[in-house]
Amino acid sequence: MKKVHNFNAGPAMLPPPVLEQVQAELRDYQGRGMSIMEMSHRSKEYEGVNSQAEATFKRLLGLTEGYRVLFVQGGASTQFAMVPMNFLPPGGVADYLVTGSWAEKALEEARGLGQARAAASTEADAYRRVPHANEIKLGPDAPYVHLTTNETIQGIQWHHVPDVGDRPLVADMSSDILSHPFDAGKFALIYAGAQKNLGPSGVTAVVLRESWLARANKNVPTMLRYATHVKNNSLYNTPPAFGVYVLNLVLGWIDRQGGLAGMAERNELKAAVLYEVIDGSGGFYRGHALSESRSRMNITFRLPSEALEKAFLAEAQAAGMVGLAGHRSVGGIRASTYNAVSLESCQALASLMKDFARKNG
Ligand SMILES: Cc1ncc(COP(=O)(O)O)c(C=O)c1O
Repeated sequence: MKKVHNFNAGPAMLPPPVLEQVQAELRDYQGRGMSIMEMSHRSKEYEGVNSQAEATFKRLLGLTEGYRVLFVQGGASTQFAMVPMNFLPPGGVADYLVTGSWAEKALEEARGLGQARAAASTEADAYRRVPHANEIKLGPDAPYVHLTTNETIQGIQWHHVPDVGDRPLVADMSSDILSHPFDAGKFALIYAGAQKNLGPSGVTAVVLRESWLARANKNVPTMLRYATHVKNNSLYNTPPAFGVYVLNLVLGWIDRQGGLAGMAERNELKAAVLYEVIDGSGGFYRGHALSESRSRMNITFRLPSEALEKAFLAEAQAAGMVGLAGHRSVGGIRASTYNAVSLESCQALASLMKDFARKNG
């Protein structure tokens, strides 16, 4: 089998032991003579997967009472709309902390559905960092404050949870969920498309503080109401069953690696290997993010010219490294080092970067 170093930004690498288990039980799930894709979502087998996924997710986050984890469809992009549809009341103005392309998208969607504003933005700083506390101007009655914990395109990450007082805090964690320990109890709602750190595309995880539902708007279509999915344990309609099954296996893998603390240790090491090369290159590689806001999931950098970037990507490709081209909107190079990516892959990339700088610097 051809082996690659997979730095794709999403859909992204899955843990090899998970893929092996999927392969082993694909034709015969638990002796039923069929795959999990071919049985009812009301079967005891699927209900077992669904409830184990919610329980493990909550345990990994250190959450118990008062929170639900939902598995829904539509990607994080649908959450950009569901959050304001459910929690932005008429007359209310939601606050968004704008740190890059994904936060911009979330704000734009909310503005199409109600009133929302940028309570802070680092756009003038080319989205190279998150805002400082004194740059965040929250409305006194904001129905919620939204942030994007990791900007996948710019490679910017929040390394602390901002203080928003008693306003409900909502986070798009699509590209750094379950990558390090954090205080999940500070959030009223967290959402994440699965296709980076959790599993295949097609399933979106939502972590919701149940008591917040009392404030939800009632006039929302059934499938777009959080209450529908809470009441029905994510089984109101046919769920993305295969995606949830793989996600559940990924959660088990994270658990066996030492949970979120284990993930953080692994991810910090991986990112450090790459940032060290950038910092030690005498300016040949220029990281996009300021060091205080550097992402441990998406490492973004430029080379001295676009021609050199093209040559770098070609060399990387020849060495079996895939997914390194920066997002089409910003160019440059982006190495996505999500949970499943190994230290060995990051070391291989670091060594190629050093060689390339020596030859071309
Ligand atoms: C931070 C962030 N938010 C939202 C999205 C959109 O997710 P989806 O494609 O699941 O709608 C992405 C996709 O890359 C992302 O990285």
